[in-house]
Amino acid sequence: MKIRAVRGTRDILPDEIPAWQTLERAAHGLLGRYGYREIRTPVFEETELFARGIGAETDIVTKEMYTFDDRDGSSLTLRPEATAGIVRAVIEHNLMNTDPALKVYALGPMFRRERPQKGRYRQFHQLDVEAFGLTSPTIDAEMIEVAVAYLEACGVRQHQLVLNSVGDQHCRPAYVETLRTALREHAPSMCGDCQRRAETNPLRVLDCKVPDDQKMIEGLPKITGHLCADCRDHFAEVCRQLKLLGIPYRLSHRLVRGLDYYVRTTFEILSGELGAQNSVLGGGRYDGLVRDLGGPEVAGTGFAVGLERLALLMPAGESEGRCDVFLAPLTSEALDPALVLQRDLRQAGVRAMLDPEGRSFKSRMKQADKLGARFVAILGDDEAARGVWTIRDMERSEQEDVPEGRILEHLKEKTNG
Ligand code: HAM
Repeated sequence: MKIRAVRGTRDILPDEIPAWQTLERAAHGLLGRYGYREIRTPVFEETELFARGIGAETDIVTKEMYTFDDRDGSSLTLRPEATAGIVRAVIEHNLMNTDPALKVYALGPMFRRERPQKGRYRQFHQLDVEAFGLTSPTIDAEMIEVAVAYLEACGVRQHQLVLNSVGDQHCRPAYVETLRTALREHAPSMCGDCQRRAETNPLRVLDCKVPDDQKMIEGLPKITGHLCADCRDHFAEVCRQLKLLGIPYRLSHRLVRGLDYYVRTTFEILSGELGAQNSVLGGGRYDGLVRDLGGPEVAGTGFAVGLERLALLMPAGESEGRCDVFLAPLTSEALDPALVLQRDLRQAGVRAMLDPEGRSFKSRMKQADKLGARFVAILGDDEAARGVWTIRDMERSEQEDVPEGRILEHLKEKTNG
């Protein structure tokens, strides 16, 4: 039986890699300009970190985690997201002591056992961006500015920013109770998931996509009317700064997100081109998470971009040639000088290749063409007798003889210049 990739996982094949390298380069470049430094944390952690960090009642923790017992009996989980692991590292290494306004980002694979479909995988990748120790609404607005700038740096022009405030520990509990009471009335007619959430995690009802529930949800009390004065002021200032920075947004009181750690600002960026899985990026403020995971009382704000979804949105790049000089030694005596020239060219930074199988001249020319070679360097009997290489310029369809002693310099000049 053929062994295939596990359902929900996918290979990123060489043809897709240029887009991935572009988005990785854009991340390093852009985030450096905003003062972020990279951090790399393990792909598995103690299960309790995620249960406590993301919320025991969330879909991620109840249904989607890859959890296994280690040989010593401890329970480990493949990270379903990056924030909890980064917070653990920040606490463990006291990073806040040396940097009270800590800005970090991470790139890597995440794991969620969701139903696979276009743009939704069981192993997927995120760029995750986090800022600690900053309570001002300015950092919420800057975080959103970074998110938008990143998408634009990757060539994504069509996107929509959706924004909400989910309140904090002072105003949200009362709102959640109001919501729970309102939901009791509708319980019998709601979908099964909402019936369960109405009791365990009423905010999540607002995220329900079941068509029959939409009318009822639109009629529910809105968090916007239940924010305390501090949350209202904070949110108003985030919105004002976004306007100042020229970043358009749409408010949605239903944007509650699938992780429990958020307070105040939440945001997502959507793209109509993605189909059902239309969120390319999501984030918000999570003051209190560092404390809940055993650290000091430190504010946090961040977001994560789904890189598979981003790659789907990126404009197709020109496919670049992979070879500068293709060497064609036509006789067995020509092989040695060709191998030495190939090494010298590569050492000089030139992408040089030859066909180690020594196939026919015609098939070698085909191969050179397929690799996008700019030049083919031919060494046959005739050339050897005259002490030259024939250099064929593939773009111009021109040929010239170059003396053996000058061949390396000649090809270096032609390809680097
Ligand atoms: P999230 O909304 O769960 O947030 O995920 C962020 C992004 O990851 C989504 O917008 C989506 O593009 C991508 N994503 C999520 N699940 C999948 C999947 N199964 N397949 C493909 N892509 C997926 C977080 O993870 C938070 N940790 C973000 C954050 C950082 N908040 C504060 N700091």
